[in-house]
Amino acid sequence: MPMFVPGPVDVAPEVAQAQTRPMLPHRSPEFEALFHSCEQRARALFRTQYRVFLLAATGTAFQEACVRNLVTERILVVVNGAFGKRWAEVARTNGKETDVLEVEWGKGVRPEQVADALQRKRYDVLAVVHNETSTGVENPVRDIAAAAREVAPEIFICVDSVSGLGGTPLEMDAWGLDVVFTSSQKCLALPPGLALAGVSDRALDRAKEVPNRGWYLDFVRLEKHRLKDSTPATPAISLIYALDVQLDRIFQEGLENRWERHRRMAEMTRAWALEKGFDLFAEEGFRSQTVTTVVNTHGLDVAQLNAFLLERNMRIANGYGPLKGKTFRIAHMGEIQPQDLEALFRAMEAYMAA
Ligand SMILES: Cc1ncc(COP(=O)(O)O)c(C=O)c1O
Repeated sequence: MPMFVPGPVDVAPEVAQAQTRPMLPHRSPEFEALFHSCEQRARALFRTQYRVFLLAATGTAFQEACVRNLVTERILVVVNGAFGKRWAEVARTNGKETDVLEVEWGKGVRPEQVADALQRKRYDVLAVVHNETSTGVENPVRDIAAAAREVAPEIFICVDSVSGLGGTPLEMDAWGLDVVFTSSQKCLALPPGLALAGVSDRALDRAKEVPNRGWYLDFVRLEKHRLKDSTPATPAISLIYALDVQLDRIFQEGLENRWERHRRMAEMTRAWALEKGFDLFAEEGFRSQTVTTVVNTHGLDVAQLNAFLLERNMRIANGYGPLKGKTFRIAHMGEIQPQDLEALFRAMEAYMAA
């Protein structure tokens, strides 16, 4: 059943099936070998030479981990949607001094805006959401990171790529990013419950000097156990089985081919929406490759539309939070193929014609 929602997404049958493998003790050589292999291969997803933490958690946990491990004085969070807003809340509720660079929802963040904010005050961390799932905006992380480094060379750049990684280009090391994290249930097309985070040596060294990092999300503790091919607490073993199979599938397709498939599907979706007289919520030049937010120009009842689609085994997402009803979202991530989108467009046309 194609779910055109921005996570949890469809899981391929063989990936779902992998979860039924018998359990292993996590401190066993068999499990450690599997964990090691997954961690090594996952680095290629992040384009990093450093390390990837695989944790029984979701992406939000690593929003918190960045705050706990890297901030002593102050953090700057870029907010142009609901998930940037959440990150600022995570920082504040951890008692950290938090400044927000607010950009209108639907607009992309300009590197100059970030550089300007960083020039005015000293920050430990710059936090940016790569792909704002709430608005369908992809922020230009590469250019933002370059501009930030120019004015604040020591800053730690943390990127939430929960709905980007695996579906749109991201180069952790080449772009000079310190922490990048994602959730399993988005472009990686796994069930929810596993969080993956690339962490640079620099970020790890910094964490060693930061007091009160807590326990579960402490980078230093996670690294100590990663070096023994495990995690401090019990790993999500069935999800690691699924990741093992899914990494093979992703690299069989080829990561760059996967990015290209997502790009093509985003283009198809935008062209269809515009042709049908809808508008696109995200500003041109900053439109997401993995989820398209369509302005509900025709005033469709999204719940009714979804009921119609469900009879045809499909589902789209309503607008997020304040955008509910005013927009709807068509996600084209993970296992979705161009022909699935064609089928969705025909079904939506049938609904609109009825
Ligand atoms: C950009 C972004 N960040 C963070 C999250 C939170 O992810 P999780 O629910 O896996 O913690 C989401 C979820 O949709 C997201 O889209």
